[in-house]
Amino acid sequence: MQTQYYHVNRETPDTGVLTQAARILQQGGLVAFPTETVYGLGANGLDAQAVAGIYQAKGRPSDNPLILHIADRCELDRLARSVPANAEVLIKKFWPGPLTLVLERTACVPDAVTGGLDTVAIRMPNSAVARELIRLAGVPLAAPSANTSGRPSPTTAQAVLADLSGRIDAILDAGPSNIGVESTVIDCTTPVPTLLRPGGVTLEMLLDVLGEVEVDPALSSGKTVPRSPGMKYTHYAPRAPLLLLEGDSRTLVSRLSQEISTAMAAGKKVGAVVSRETAAKLPLEVIAAIYGSQGCPAEIAANLYGALRYFDEHPVDVIYAEGISESGLGLAVMNRLRKASGYQIIKV
Ligand code: TXA
Ligand code: MG
Repeated sequence: MQTQYYHVNRETPDTGVLTQAARILQQGGLVAFPTETVYGLGANGLDAQAVAGIYQAKGRPSDNPLILHIADRCELDRLARSVPANAEVLIKKFWPGPLTLVLERTACVPDAVTGGLDTVAIRMPNSAVARELIRLAGVPLAAPSANTSGRPSPTTAQAVLADLSGRIDAILDAGPSNIGVESTVIDCTTPVPTLLRPGGVTLEMLLDVLGEVEVDPALSSGKTVPRSPGMKYTHYAPRAPLLLLEGDSRTLVSRLSQEISTAMAAGKKVGAVVSRETAAKLPLEVIAAIYGSQGCPAEIAANLYGALRYFDEHPVDVIYAEGISESGLGLAVMNRLRKASGYQIIKV
């Protein structure tokens, strides 16, 4: 299959191009499209066969459910059996935006989307391209991140094509996603809403409007079985093994240099996913992919997956990553880095 490539303006997308893409979706095809978080791989979310195509193109385990993307609040009522008061508050505050709500589903939603669960994950993206595409398709779009299963999510059309060229019908390129990590997933079917995946809307922001939020214990330990099925798989992993250093930033840099020197002395080619400040202190032989500046978690989130993917074109034997503080977007960044490391963590 030849993947059709379309460039679209992110603020004022060309309706002709989006209409063509919407037609592909209506016919059961797969279209990768930009969102403010990462690029998604879309299919008609009410067509089980089209949804099956997503799993096949990504090589995704079929028990890992998908998010339905909508463009208007009124579409929610045919997909969710009820919308609790807490969820209404979140919708008012954060939609459109990087927040996914888990709600009880209606019979309208195919099992192929939910992996057989009685809940469904729904989000309204902020990207104008995404929302216009959904409107023109006239159906909710099931869309996971547009990467091969297990690989870092794509934040550019080029990253999508590196994984899925020839496996999907079309791609809409609107430049880099500005948030860079996926949406926050929050389960609104529990008495107190439960954070299942940290993302673009921070825990602090959720606490601010809800007062109380449970955090899925699997998020901190990485050992218990997570309630968000997707969190149990190896994820976000670059092709070389990655070791994550976590802890106080001053001791972290000296320990990082030590670890790197030891690896180089053993003849290894070393890569580092680090801040600008830390990169300046590393030996010249280290290949550094800089994710941003210390203390700027939004910049680090935006560049994180690009930095991980950099080492696919510049192969190394081992990658060391510099951990950051878990406040704000730092919680999502650290969640993804821990998973990318397969929980190979050096605490300093
Ligand atoms: O930012 C995003 O959310 C991106 C863009 C494309 O919108 N999409 C995305 O989809 O990250 P995906 O499939 O890569 O991640 C969906 C996450 C998985 O961790 C999945 O297990 C969880 O949402 N999920 C989906 N349905 C669920 C449900 N009913 N209950 C609990 N977790 C669910
Ligand atoms: Mg994903």
